[in-house]
Amino acid sequence: MSEENVKSLTEEEQQKLKLYFLGLRQGLVALGPSEHLLPPHSVAFTKKYHEFRFCESDVVIATFPRSGTTWTQEIVWTMKNGLDFETASKVSLNIRSPFLEFDSLHPLHIDLREDLVTSFLSRHPNEDPRFGGVCLQLAELAHTPRTIKTHLPFSLLPADLLETCKVVYVARNPRDVCVSLYHHMSTLAIAEFIGDFPDFVNFWCCDQYLMGPFWNHLKEAWERRQHRNFLILFYEDMKENITRELKRLNAFLETGLSEDQLRQVAEYTTFSQMKSRSQTVSPISTYSARAIKEMRRDHVRKGTTGNWVNYFTPELETKFQLWMKKGGEVVKEIPFKYQI
Ligand code: A3P
Repeated sequence: MSEENVKSLTEEEQQKLKLYFLGLRQGLVALGPSEHLLPPHSVAFTKKYHEFRFCESDVVIATFPRSGTTWTQEIVWTMKNGLDFETASKVSLNIRSPFLEFDSLHPLHIDLREDLVTSFLSRHPNEDPRFGGVCLQLAELAHTPRTIKTHLPFSLLPADLLETCKVVYVARNPRDVCVSLYHHMSTLAIAEFIGDFPDFVNFWCCDQYLMGPFWNHLKEAWERRQHRNFLILFYEDMKENITRELKRLNAFLETGLSEDQLRQVAEYTTFSQMKSRSQTVSPISTYSARAIKEMRRDHVRKGTTGNWVNYFTPELETKFQLWMKKGGEVVKEIPFKYQI
């Protein structure tokens, strides 16, 4: 990525981030036109993401974090793999549906998984695994049809992505996303946020946190909503009527599943089922030592719409409403539901 496409934050902003996010020891840089925030070593990977070879049978699950990615990955993977619930319950979702840019999120001070490093070095003996892409290799080598997860905005993905394969984008109302992301960032080793919710809202409203900002991500997706290879789902719609949304997916993915098969997919991916299998979603190494000690390994956490009302005081609501204005026209156009 050329230098003009990488923007640094000010020294003061970096210091503040490092103070509240113990996992962000190197701070963050803003990448590309959407100013997507990732740790500085991500610059070593941006060209690889931009040139990643997707193929026709791939399905990309592209989301802003905490919008229902994991749920949708599990749905799409089972639909594309002939309802192979046996493999799904045995093999971690991270392996079945790799996270394209996890090398960028993985902090340099945390060791990479040994099995991934060994596998990477067997193919690239002269490369440094930290900058070569051990997670990227997982995505490259995943069984076809591949279901690939990414939180990257469109501008950091290949320009011809939608001409190559199908992309499912999941959106969720930003208040619930903010609450969910606060919990997530507090428990994950890659972020280790140590502030409280009002502190997190301050970072959110300044658009300064890992994988932010929200609106730019949404806007890039919304602009593409008419494309034949692109489907936008809403988390709230999935909560409200999963059968209807699975039918939409079935038509979009051309999976030709019967109503009974869709019912089985819905059953396998209910919140309670996924919660009980959640150890196959995120390995223990993903969580900070504090989160493990406090038993807060909850990637699949609450799974409701409207939980934000328990977090937003009138003061936070005022701040948030100001931030909402940054969404511009998209706020008016996107039919977010805050309660169902
Ligand atoms: P909460 O934190 O509000 O509970 P992502 O996978 O994009 O990180 O999104 C995580 C959010 O989706 C979490 O929201 C999580 O609980 C919720 N989720 C995960 N599996 C779900 C399911 N099967 N049904 C409903 N919500 C689910």
